[in-house]
Amino acid sequence: MKVKQIHPLFAGEASGIDLSKPLAADDVEAINEAMNEYAVLVFRDQPLTQTQQVELAKSFGPLDFGFKRLKKAPDRMEHAELADISNVADAGGTVGRNDRKIVSNIANQLWHSDSSFQKPAARYSMLAAVRVPGSGGDTEYADLRSAYDALPEETKREIEGLQAEHYALHSRFLLGDTEYDEEQRNMLPPVLWPLVRTHAGSGRKHLFIGVHTRAIEGWTIAEGRMLLMDLLEHATQREFVYKHKWRPNDLVIWDNRCTLHRGRRFDLNQPRELRRATTLDVDHADQAAA
Ligand code: OGA
Ligand code: MN
Repeated sequence: MKVKQIHPLFAGEASGIDLSKPLAADDVEAINEAMNEYAVLVFRDQPLTQTQQVELAKSFGPLDFGFKRLKKAPDRMEHAELADISNVADAGGTVGRNDRKIVSNIANQLWHSDSSFQKPAARYSMLAAVRVPGSGGDTEYADLRSAYDALPEETKREIEGLQAEHYALHSRFLLGDTEYDEEQRNMLPPVLWPLVRTHAGSGRKHLFIGVHTRAIEGWTIAEGRMLLMDLLEHATQREFVYKHKWRPNDLVIWDNRCTLHRGRRFDLNQPRELRRATTLDVDHADQAAA
């Protein structure tokens, strides 16, 4: 496998590997090493079946169900572990604007780290493109290690040791999607993560923020949210962002520990069809404040 860096700070395009076949132990190691360095890896021309995508993900650890734990309804996916990141209806056309699926699509357009609202959170997300719209619908990634490095020393001192509260439904509430009963609201209870963490694979420090954060422990809501918004604005400046323009059969793997991502707006009448498998960051199930 070869990797060509595609952004000055992070993100690489990998080639010379066929992800549809079972990976040998050294392939897994090579990908892990590249992930620790680049945090986002783009693989072109990898037409994977749903089963192949699940098998690939399983080579990197146990799989995450994330938001799927909330919705019991069957979906289009052949495997419960796959998330249907699409605006496509069961019958094949696009869903209507009022379909619940659209809220999830739009929530994905807010900067976030997958499943940061649970313990363990997500480690790798693997998103495969099936159909993409003619324009719009790119996915952007922000490098939280470089963003941390670039903080003023005073801010680094101020935020060291703070913990942020992450809550799954915070992003949904922001978008006016409030129809969840008590059981659903309690199914994914809020968790605390340190605001500054050390990335196990590289030893580098990084921010751990995004739209699932709603408070700083021990701070007023107002001050905490303002700090979180300031840090998010800092971390998502253009210099820290790689924008991915999808082609069908792309597979992008990103490290949720040290990057944020968001989808970009697109014409909801055009089909945009991707699917995601995600691994759990099992080594950090209980990470307390640093
Ligand atoms: C995701 C996600 C963004 C996009 O799959 O986790 O946030 O561009 N996707 O679809
Ligand atoms: Mn996501």
